[in-house]
This record gives sequence, structure tokens and C-alpha cells, in this order.
Amino acid sequence: MLYVFCRYCIMEDLETDLLKFKGFYVHHKAFDNDFLENLDDFEIRDDDIFVVTYPKSGTIWAQQILSLIYFEEHRKRTENLETIHRVPFLEYSSGHIDFGKRPSPRLFVTHLPYYLVPRGLKDKKAKIVYIYRNPKDVMCSCFHYVNTYPIFKAVDTIEAFMKQFLEGKVVGGLWFDHVRGWYEHRNNFNIQFMMYEEMKKDLRSSVLKLCKFLGEDLSEETLDGVVKQASFENMKDDPLANNESTLYRNFGPKLREGHFLRKGTALWKI
Ligand code: A3P
Repeated sequence: MLYVFCRYCIMEDLETDLLKFKGFYVHHKAFDNDFLENLDDFEIRDDDIFVVTYPKSGTIWAQQILSLIYFEEHRKRTENLETIHRVPFLEYSSGHIDFGKRPSPRLFVTHLPYYLVPRGLKDKKAKIVYIYRNPKDVMCSCFHYVNTYPIFKAVDTIEAFMKQFLEGKVVGGLWFDHVRGWYEHRNNFNIQFMMYEEMKKDLRSSVLKLCKFLGEDLSEETLDGVVKQASFENMKDDPLANNESTLYRNFGPKLREGHFLRKGTALWKI
């Protein structure tokens, strides 16, 4: 059965609680109809920075790296603010944050496909960092994620989840569409692609590459600090980096033992 919620939005899959908005799956609880419908006109500033990812590709990692680069108070831990508030989600934060009042440079993350982002990005205003990760690790990470937090419908087996994933019936839609869409339209955007596996192999070089793209010149000491504080081990233990309390507030108590930063490993060795 199909339920139409708004002009563009259809509750397609009651099994998984997903809403399809203009061909893209979002979770119905996080859905803000008005904001998404008007997103094309969302005002983009030249110095805005967007991280774009398919879910489970290292979004939280990028949030931590950007927070460390741009906020001394985050590096020095003098301010008690989680990275999700420094680098908020574009599509999931609309009710709580007045983006227009945020000082520049504004930092955002989004899981949106290339065709749903604000028009200003397509005019090459602002910088975009697209992080991608091999789909098997993404699928595995997502399987554990949906079975850990109560807002998702749990899936019994990895085989059942793989079916959903390969049909694109997950938040973020089909992995192939997301990556291919952004890659094929790369010339329309001011975009830098970064690979999770490359970051894993050599985080220092990846941070340097990112800084070059962003035009940020970090001292050796600051760079060392960013690399150290963005390590998996550090982030897993750091409540400001792993967004633990926001996850608890928004998703409720976990259904089982588990951590958002689960394993942080890469199947592909590059
Ligand atoms: P796993 O579940 O495989 O461990 P996202 O933020 O896009 O949802 O991605 C979450 C995934 O990125 C998780 O993967 C998490 O462990 C991994 N991750 C987060 N920070 C990381 C880091 N510093 N190093 C390596 N992997 C990291």
C-alpha cells in the first residue's frame, strides 16, 4: 500500500519505515517536508563547506576532522559541544538550527543525492567534500546500525539486509546511484572526492589533501593534533566526537551493546 504524505513524498515501504522523497529514501521520523521541498532555494554562501556522504561512509569522521580544523576550542577541548552541532546535518536539523544566523564559514553534512541539494551548490558556490567507502563495509556497518538503535526496524539476518541494500531500500537509497550521481555530475560542483580507505591508510596525508582543497594552512603542531584526535580509538572514547548524547536523545536507548564507532576497518587494502 502507498501513502501519499505531500506533493513529492510517498510512504512506500511500511516494513522499513522509509519515505521516498523525489526518488530518494529518508527515514520518516527525521523527515521535514517543508524544509526539503524548499531546499532548492536554500541560500548558499561562497564560503560554506559541505561534507556529502552515503550513510555509514565516515560522515562522523569528517565532522570531527572539520571541527578540529575550524574550531580551536574543539581541538583544545575548551568548549563542551558535540561535532554534530558544529557540523550539523542540512536535511535533519531544520527545526532546531537557524542556519541563516550561523557565522561563516558554515559547515554542513548531508546524505542527499546530487539532484536534491540547493541550487547554489550547483552554481559552484561553496566547497563540497564527498567521502565514499566500499559498499560491502557500508552495508555491514549499516546492518549493525539499524539493529542497534530503536528508531530503525531491526533486520534479522545480514542476508535479509543485503537484499534491502541491493534494492536501495535503505536510508540513502541505492549506494551505486548515490556515488555514481555525484561522480558523474562532479563538473557541476566545486567538489573534492575522498576515499574512506585512503583516510584509513594515511590520515595525515588525507587531512593535508583536505586542507589544500579548503585553503587552510595548519601548523605542523595543529596538524599533528588533528590527526591524533581524529583517530578511531580517540573518537570512540571521546563523547564530543562520537555524538553519543545526541544519538541517545534522538534515537533512544540502544537495543543492544554496540557503538556508533563500531570497528572502523576497511575491507579494501589500498
Ligand atoms: P563501522 O560501523 O564499520 O565501524 P557514518 O558516520 O557515515 O555513519 O559512518 C560510520 C562508520 O565510520 C562506522 O563504521 C565508524 O566506525 C566509521 N568511523 C568513524 N570514525 C572513524 C575513524 N576515526 N576511523 C575509522 N573509521 C571511522
